[in-house]
Amino acid sequence: MKLIEKIKESTAFIRTKTKVTPQVGLILGSGLGVLAEEIENAVKIPYGDIPHFPVSTVAGHKGQLVIGDLSGKKVIAMQGRFHFYEGYDLKDVTFPVRVMKALGVKQIIVTNAAGGVNTSFEPGDLMIIEDHINLMFRNPLIGPNEEAFGVRFPDMSEAYSKHLIQKAKEVGDKLKINLKQGRYMGLTGPTYETPSEVKMIRQLGADAVGMSTVPEVIVARHASMEVLGISCITNMAAGILPKPLSHDEVIETTNLVQEKFLSLIRQIVEEIE
Ligand code: HPA
Repeated sequence: MKLIEKIKESTAFIRTKTKVTPQVGLILGSGLGVLAEEIENAVKIPYGDIPHFPVSTVAGHKGQLVIGDLSGKKVIAMQGRFHFYEGYDLKDVTFPVRVMKALGVKQIIVTNAAGGVNTSFEPGDLMIIEDHINLMFRNPLIGPNEEAFGVRFPDMSEAYSKHLIQKAKEVGDKLKINLKQGRYMGLTGPTYETPSEVKMIRQLGADAVGMSTVPEVIVARHASMEVLGISCITNMAAGILPKPLSHDEVIETTNLVQEKFLSLIRQIVEEIE
């Protein structure tokens, strides 16, 4: 079945569960899924129920769509996302972004847990993503282009909306949340980086490193959605501190920053036009 047909079937199924037209899409990274609990009048649809949806496998990822009201806006959240390292094709990783677009989403807020590469960062910092570097050496748009979705050669000169970056900064100032800003580099994982790789990543100009986000943002831009990216710096990348990295540390840090993260996103959603 063609991708466009699959999207139609998924969308039609979701519409049998709710008539809401979401304006803002939220992709919630490792440990950040709690934001979905804030959504009111929520309709929750487990990924496994939706035709053609992949199913999430990582601990700390719940695996459902949550559709409802947040800060006075209609939103749809992915509580748990799909990663390339789980073995999915990038077409599957980004499928929910296509479905969000089909449901009416205009702006998408993509969040993730990331390692801090910039040594002025600290675990617990939130970073506005100003741009990304795709070091996955793969692209979800490889293959025949579906003209109904977007152009063959999408412009990526403003992958992350300047307007939304400005908005996020204003909200940070207003709420007195210290926000960093920087470039995110996406690798496939699932290994964390070696210290030498982290040095290379820094030399290539990135401030944070992670295993997600890039594919979803590419597809969102292909579909002409506006993107805001927020990284939670959960740990310093390998080799910066004399200790090993672990997923437990990642989840621990996201728990510590939860309140800050929630108030930031709630306020951004409120102020987004
Ligand atoms: N590297 C890659 N991905 C990550 C990291 C990291 O240090 N921390 C959280 N996600």
